[in-house]
Amino acid sequence: MSIVTSGPAVSSRALGVLLDSWRASSSPGYAALADRIRLLVLDGRLSVGTRLPSERDLATHLGVSRTTVAAAYAALRDAGHVTSLRGSGSVVRLPDQAKVRSTRPAAEGDVLDFTKAAMPAVGGIAEAAQRAAGRLGAYLSEPGYDTVGRPVLREAIAARYRARGLETSADQIVVTLGAQHAIALLARVLVGRGDRAVVETPGYPHAFEALRAAGARLAPVSVTVDEGWDESALLQTLRRTSPPVAYLMPDFHNPTGATMPEAQRVRVLEAAADEGTIVIADETMAELVVGGPRGASFPGAGAGAGAGAGAGTSAGAAVLAAARPLPMAAYGPAVTIGSVGKSLWGGLRIGWIRAERPLVERLVRARSAGDLGTPVLEQLIVADLLGDMDGVLEARSRQLRHGRDRLVAGLRSAFPGWSVPSPAGGLTTWVGLGAPVSSQLVLAARRHGLLLAAGPMFGVDGAFERFLRVPYSYPDDETDRALAALAAAWDGIDGVQAPRGALMAEVV
Ligand SMILES: Cc1ncc(COP(=O)(O)O)c(C=O)c1O
Repeated sequence: MSIVTSGPAVSSRALGVLLDSWRASSSPGYAALADRIRLLVLDGRLSVGTRLPSERDLATHLGVSRTTVAAAYAALRDAGHVTSLRGSGSVVRLPDQAKVRSTRPAAEGDVLDFTKAAMPAVGGIAEAAQRAAGRLGAYLSEPGYDTVGRPVLREAIAARYRARGLETSADQIVVTLGAQHAIALLARVLVGRGDRAVVETPGYPHAFEALRAAGARLAPVSVTVDEGWDESALLQTLRRTSPPVAYLMPDFHNPTGATMPEAQRVRVLEAAADEGTIVIADETMAELVVGGPRGASFPGAGAGAGAGAGAGTSAGAAVLAAARPLPMAAYGPAVTIGSVGKSLWGGLRIGWIRAERPLVERLVRARSAGDLGTPVLEQLIVADLLGDMDGVLEARSRQLRHGRDRLVAGLRSAFPGWSVPSPAGGLTTWVGLGAPVSSQLVLAARRHGLLLAAGPMFGVDGAFERFLRVPYSYPDDETDRALAALAAAWDGIDGVQAPRGALMAEVV
């Protein structure tokens, strides 16, 4: 039995925001409320040890009877997600493994984890690791760690920026432990307690966490699949709040897949510079060009990036290279984050920050409070593979195009009432469900052995109950099993009348 202590409390108001449209389901009020709280726990949005509001407070805030809240808390206690501590009320906990297993019909090994938008390792990593091991001898007489990165990798990363059209020298690069580490390090150095940080909503949830952990108050600006960035809101928010940082994903934005047009990049960077705001452009997805099914091109590509190059019409490396967007810092002052986590393999844990030298120096000084550097062998592996990125990206693009077309066709055919975009890049599609049932659907999918991230995960304070992020980066058999699990889950949830078509009838 796990020991649970009481941690911080969540107020009725804060919980109400996280719960968003919990009433949308037609299941009894208490069950819908319990389900939503359960998902907040599973997603980590309510951390273990958090004290829930009293039944009376929450009932008053939500405008429901106290019996409804009491029954919801009782259901959560029965499922092991809440425990009652004398004097501390109801506290969030994780259920015992036995209880978790009893809610999952699938054996542990059969569970599909689609909460990650990631790919298996690219071919050739083992060979590159062997070559890197052969070069390791030259480093073994040194201490072996530093907070900036090995010169050979910093130069290889700088060369990659130059190949993408942005003049860069090795001393502008800090090698990090993946892009997530880069976000957290920048947040720690650039954000003070109580500062504003502009973010996109929906957006990348672990960036929200890192910025909040550094003390930021998030100022969200909307991005949609069809319209991209709400530019007037973005510019106004910059002018109104003069934030020290704005964290943006201008290329194949996670989760919408939107790409910021070139002219908009210029305007946003100008407005940010006027306010003294540092734009952090997370380019983790930037090189994952999938292309359009009918030869559509990168929407923001202008003269510099090779306008009109149709990544979908040719698998040639030259065409793909031309279709790739220029890095954000080519359009104005921006700090950029990169990673090989998606292009090569997440298991390498190599990312980086590209910045002007004074900021590089601040980052390197600040880093030692958290960690003392990036492992040398992994750096040598990545330096080796960066030499042939065009070939790697061409293979990735082919793989992703196939996965995207299969998933999109499967979803469109099985769920004609959903709106299923076919993104030109990145790893996921941001599906519109037509009803605010994302959390319910995700809970039902768990019971069919499929783990997904519900729409509200990507909102600053919940919301997005009408959306679901689905990755297309997995092998065919897993995508097909996920589609089948989604179909079974959709049939089983309440309050959904949308028709369903034949599963996988027209998969290409
Ligand atoms: C937008 C974005 N930034 C950063 C990361 C983290 O990448 P890394 O694995 O390099 O830490 C991810 C991973 O999904 C991501 O989607």
